[in-house]
Amino acid sequence: MPRIPDHPVDPLFVDRWSPRSFTGEPVPDAVLQSAFEAARWAPSASNAQPWRFIVARPGDAEWADFVSLLLPRNRLWAERASALILIVSALDVERRGEVVANVSHSFDAGAAWANFAHQALLLGWHTHGIGGFDRDAARELLGIPEAFAVESMLALGKQADLAGLHADFHAQESPNDRRPLVQTVFSGRFGAPAFSPQRNAA
Ligand SMILES: Cc1cc2nc3c(=O)[nH]c(=O)nc-3n(C[C@H](O)[C@H](O)[C@H](O)COP(=O)(O)O)c2cc1C
Repeated sequence: MPRIPDHPVDPLFVDRWSPRSFTGEPVPDAVLQSAFEAARWAPSASNAQPWRFIVARPGDAEWADFVSLLLPRNRLWAERASALILIVSALDVERRGEVVANVSHSFDAGAAWANFAHQALLLGWHTHGIGGFDRDAARELLGIPEAFAVESMLALGKQADLAGLHADFHAQESPNDRRPLVQTVFSGRFGAPAFSPQRNAA
């Protein structure tokens, strides 16, 4: 089913979706560099840029380590990706010469990942966020310092047809939908509708 937005948006936002069927073909450095460049320009509190990315590609010495982090169900499809990426974020930030806790480190890392995903799509590549992995093992295996939170993994790949995808996932291999804005955007108080017909008529 094609995604139909309720209000006008650039097609980029509805065209990004998370397939699980990947070709496994090599991803050029230039694609990764452009996607990370887009992530680099994400906004962040105090411009702290708390995000860091650790990448592995099939053939890299670390690839088996990255695959081993995935929960078995995610491994079924994500090991066919062209790159697996771990996102971590710095817990602290320096403000006016003082190191303080950065309450928005995860929020800001999320903004960077969204930029990455959209730029990748513009280049013909798909991404798929992966929360189902062993965070403690990731910290240990990939040498993540205590000062960084382990946020998420993501798979990057070229979309393939269903032939190479485990049968368990075939039924889900199409773009999903979203709840309507009325359940998401409130006016002034939590739960108060923001876009009533009366307001639009005024
Ligand atoms: C942080 C994060 C963690 C996710 N973890 C998983 C996961 O472990 N396994 C999986 O199959 N999909 C995972 N997803 C994919 C989501 O289910 C998917 O993004 C969501 O259903 C919206 O679909 P869309 O990305 O196709 O628009 C994750 C996505 C994000 C952003």
